[in-house]
Parts: sequence; structure tokens; C-alpha cells
Amino acid sequence: MNIKLLQHPLSDHLLTILRDETTTTAAFRAAAGRVTTLLAIEATRDMPTTPQNIRTPLEEMQGATLAQQIVLVPVLRAGLGMLTPFVELFPDVAVGYIGLARDEETAVAVTYYRKLPPLAGRRTILVDPMLATGGSAVQALDALKAAGADDIQLVCIVAAPEGVAQIHQNHPDVPLLAAALDRELDDRRYICPGLGDFGDRLYGT
Ligand code: PRP
Ligand code: URA
Repeated sequence: MNIKLLQHPLSDHLLTILRDETTTTAAFRAAAGRVTTLLAIEATRDMPTTPQNIRTPLEEMQGATLAQQIVLVPVLRAGLGMLTPFVELFPDVAVGYIGLARDEETAVAVTYYRKLPPLAGRRTILVDPMLATGGSAVQALDALKAAGADDIQLVCIVAAPEGVAQIHQNHPDVPLLAAALDRELDDRRYICPGLGDFGDRLYGT
């Protein structure tokens, strides 16, 4: 499978908080933010850098500065819970938005909003906490490519094998990073064991 998983005890700890049905909205938000910080660090591990000569208080040395601009694209609304940790780590990040909602009966996602900055030549990171059927992510990736994105990564918190297969089939060039790969979808296309409806739990709705 074309998926890279965070393998870290802190990630497992935070996922357990997210999955536990007794977790409060406040604790859910905090854990979602903290696991996204881990994902953001891992997702940017291969970012290019430019050498920079500096002088420390002791001597001259060659440092490094980030050489590529990042565009973060959260999928509304649940993806908004992953925005702040990226902005805190990368304050210069540009932000685009794609609004998608799954029909409760069919689980087919419908686009209701799209606002994207220039994407060509930049690292575009699409963030959506749940990759279930993959329908939302495939539509979002289609939109990013149509808007000129040529270096895209997909970052999720929980993925289902069905969604991973959809990404592999439709966007084999897009690397996928997640905190967990779960067992399967149920007949309502919820991820099992999963954590329920991420957006509802994040926003207390
Ligand atoms: C959730 C989630 C993804 C989508 C995943 O959003 O944030 O966008 O479902 O499902 P899929 O892989 O089957 O398309 P939802 O449609 O519930 O909207 P919300 O973020 O507004 O809660
Ligand atoms: N969206 C969610 O929020 N949770 C799921 O399990 C599937 C889609």
C-alpha cells in the first residue's frame, strides 16, 4: 500500500484519546492538534533547503533555510482542525480551502467551496483527518491538479484501506501520510474502529 504511517508512541497515545468515545470536545481538539504537529514534521522531512552562511557567536558555519513555499489546503470542515499546527511550524505557509461534504445516505462528497492560491512550483499539502471511501480526497486532488499543483502530499489522521486504494488508483503520484491505517469501512462508510465523525467531535456538533 502506498501509505506511510507515523510510528511513534506519542502518536499512538494521541490516537487513543481521539478514538475514545468519552473524550471531551476540548481534549479531542487538543489531541488532534498535537498529532497534526507530528504529522507536519514527518510530512516535511524531505523539503529542500538552501545553504546559508552565517556566523554563530563562536565561528562561521553553513546553515540551511527552507527553499520551497508550502501551500496548506485543509478540506472543510474537519481539515480546519489541522491548520493551526502547520501554521505554527511554518508561519509563512499560504492557505487554500476546499469545502466538501459527504451525503449522509450515499457517502458521495459534494464540493461547496473552493479558494486556492497559486500552486505551481510550491509544495501543496492537502490535509483531511479522515480518508474513508477516498471520494473526498480524490475530488480534492483533482481540483488541486486542475489548479496547477505539481508537488502534492496528502496528510490524514486515520485512513481506511478502501480510501488508500482509491488514492493509489486515481493519484498514484501523491504520497500519503497518516497516523493510523484502520481495518475497514462499515456499511455507512464509517472507518472501523475509527473515531466516529471527526467534524462533529471537533466542533461539538
Ligand atoms: C469527512 C472527512 C472527509 C470525508 C472522508 O468529512 O473530513 O472529508 O468525510 O470521507 P470519504 O473518504 O468517504 O470521502 P464530512 O463529509 O463528514 O464533512 P465535515 O468535514 O464537514 O464533517
Ligand atoms: N468521515 C468521518 O468523520 N469519519 C469516518 O469514519 C468517515 C468519514
